[in-house]
Amino acid sequence: MRCSDTEPSSLGLFSESDLQQPARSDALGPQAWVLRGFALPWIERLLPRLDEVLAAAPFRHMVTPGGFSMSVGLSSCGQWGWTTDRSGYRYSRIDPQSLRPWPAMPEVFRQLAEAAADAAGFSRFTPDSCLINCYRPGAKMSLHQDKNEHDFNAPIVSLSLGLPAIFLFGGQQRSDQSQRVPLLHGDVVVWGGVDRLRYHGVLPLKDGNHPQLGQQRINLTFRLAG
Ligand code: SIN
Ligand code: FE2
Repeated sequence: MRCSDTEPSSLGLFSESDLQQPARSDALGPQAWVLRGFALPWIERLLPRLDEVLAAAPFRHMVTPGGFSMSVGLSSCGQWGWTTDRSGYRYSRIDPQSLRPWPAMPEVFRQLAEAAADAAGFSRFTPDSCLINCYRPGAKMSLHQDKNEHDFNAPIVSLSLGLPAIFLFGGQQRSDQSQRVPLLHGDVVVWGGVDRLRYHGVLPLKDGNHPQLGQQRINLTFRLAG
């Protein structure tokens, strides 16, 4: 499941200390939350499914409409996968690399996303898309809004795995000041409602070695796209 796809994955079990972390949430806005450690009890079930998805749809570096190769490796599962190429950003039912539908979204992914949305006050969220981002040291995500989805009433649910990162959470305008939010393995960020179109991004990933995921951060973003 590494970005380079050259090494086999080594998935450890979650440790006792993971389970003992108290649940805590930090407000980033009126309808935006970091659910600290929310996914830790799910990770043991989630990682083998992630491996299967990535075997069927490996990470690749897509090109932006402006012609730049993204530093983040991308894949997707679910009915819709987010893609970019020279002709634009869009959701597609077909993986442009395999020319087959994206792998199905594993049930445990959907359950985690729905539970996190519910915990943040968004009941009845059912994602039809899971974008999988892989950051190696130095990879970053520039400030952007998630606005290729049809229905902005549904929230965004974003799970962090592996190395820590600094998430930038800005305002409704690109020029608004951003909060710097450290995100750790197992943290879930949920934003929706009045905060749905807030700019966000990720600072260049610092080098390190995560006991379960190695030298990378993987982010799963659940959305209602179609
Ligand atoms: C994204 O906005 O697509 C990714 C956010 C993250 O990696 O935390
Ligand atoms: Fe985003």
